[in-house]
Amino acid sequence: MEAVSDTALWAAAVRADESQLEDALFVDDLAADLAGEKGFALRDRYDNAGVRACIAERTRYLDEVIARHPSFRQVVFLAAGLDTRSVRLEWAPGTTLYEVDHADLVAWKEQRLTELGAQHAVERHTVGIDLREDWPKALEAAGWVPGAPTLWIAEGLFYYLPEDGARELLARIAEQAAPGDILSGDLVSRQTMVSESEAARRNLVLLEEDGSPWLFATDDPEEYLSTGGWEPTEVLILGHPGANFGRWPGPAIPREAMGVPRNFFFFATKRG
Ligand SMILES: C[S@@+](CC[C@H](N)C(=O)[O-])C[C@H]1O[C@@H](n2cnc3c(N)ncnc32)[C@H](O)[C@@H]1O
Repeated sequence: MEAVSDTALWAAAVRADESQLEDALFVDDLAADLAGEKGFALRDRYDNAGVRACIAERTRYLDEVIARHPSFRQVVFLAAGLDTRSVRLEWAPGTTLYEVDHADLVAWKEQRLTELGAQHAVERHTVGIDLREDWPKALEAAGWVPGAPTLWIAEGLFYYLPEDGARELLARIAEQAAPGDILSGDLVSRQTMVSESEAARRNLVLLEEDGSPWLFATDDPEEYLSTGGWEPTEVLILGHPGANFGRWPGPAIPREAMGVPRNFFFFATKRG
């Protein structure tokens, strides 16, 4: 398995914890079994209030983005990891999901889901490929229809790529996207990378040690999300209204504050 794919186990462990809360932001019944021992060990290794909140809040934010855009009949999860929205969300009849991630992770996830008796609520296809390769061809081979409206989800992805890779991928998604398509996901700020926060600095070191360093970060998501024909429609700072469902531990961080870590949740629309 690619080192970066271990981060999917970590995210699943955080979702498992959230699912146990009385006022859970979502309930992911498969998350604990998918995370397994390794996922919970990584949760403990990287644990701090900020990252825990970030994973839970972004899961809920993207659940809501999906719910706010019910007309898309094709939904592509780029770097799907151990996401289980195919099981836990309701989908309109005729919707098809495509889950793209590294081949080893995809194969392992399918085996685990079968063992766990997962019941998908929607037609779903997996695509095991490195997103630096010709994934559009593989997506099409899996049944995705180019030109038909598509909701693109990139959750926990862009910062694992170097800046040129993140820009190339964004442009490549734009090339595949039809006018009006939506791309939604999250980004890490440059301020996180240069932060004075002990907890944030520690995690950056640990992630690098584990072979999954955060590489691409920006303080200007609107600039990044304007390239390749995208129009940034909604850019929110985690903890601000619209990107705070009750887990963010502190006050909302002002956009202009320097040296304080923060993440952005967004959706962008493909221009006509
Ligand atoms: C933090 S996890 C997020 C997974 C999932 N979206 C979630 O939120 O739980 C990062 C995911 O990105 C995938 N990933 C990173 N770089 C990739 C690449 N170049 N090609 C395919 N998948 C990649 C990893 O395998 C991993 O599943």
